[in-house]
Amino acid sequence: MASINTPQTPADWDAYYRLRYTVLRQPWDQPEGSERADDDAAPTTTHALLLAPDGQALGVGRLHPSGARQGQVRFMAVHPQAQGQGVGRQVLEYLEAAARQQGLREVVLHAREQAVPFYERLGYAVVAPSHTLFGTVPHFLMRKDL
Ligand SMILES: CC(C)(COP(=O)(O)OP(=O)(O)OC[C@H]1O[C@@H](n2cnc3c(N)ncnc32)[C@H](O)[C@@H]1OP(=O)(O)O)[C@@H](O)C(=O)NCCC(=O)NCCS
Repeated sequence: MASINTPQTPADWDAYYRLRYTVLRQPWDQPEGSERADDDAAPTTTHALLLAPDGQALGVGRLHPSGARQGQVRFMAVHPQAQGQGVGRQVLEYLEAAARQQGLREVVLHAREQAVPFYERLGYAVVAPSHTLFGTVPHFLMRKDL
């Protein structure tokens, strides 16, 4: 059975970053390392990794505090062969549970245009258009009350 947790071992972290890179950076020819963020190592950042029984990473995402009682979700990625099977939902619900435990009251995120329906299904609403990543990927600011 698949399990979801914070990455623990070096192998977990390798799998975590590899999936981030493969899904969110490689298709736009971004350099390796571009999948990492300075605050990944902050003690206040929560990481989620859903692993298949064979150790393959199926889904990842992270949460950090971004304001008074507000958290931001970033770097949500599901393995192409595992998309549409509830993996993204499990990752996001794990991060939302962590946000509630931390006393946060709302979650915001910048969704890629093609991911907006996924977040709407999970209770998020579009606030406004935001940035365009790599010159081609429009994003929308979305939020949800916890
Ligand atoms: C967007 C993404 C994270 C969603 O994860 P996923 O595992 O494919 O989604 P799930 O299977 O958990 O979907 C949860 C629900 O949202 C719905 N949903 C997902 N994508 C959808 C879409 N494009 N349109 C409509 N509904 C969608 C599912 O049907 C499901 O509904 P249900 O609970 O009624 O069955 C994943 O597809 C992905 O990594 N995409 C590429 C990278 C990306 O865009 N990341 C987000 C960056 S902001």
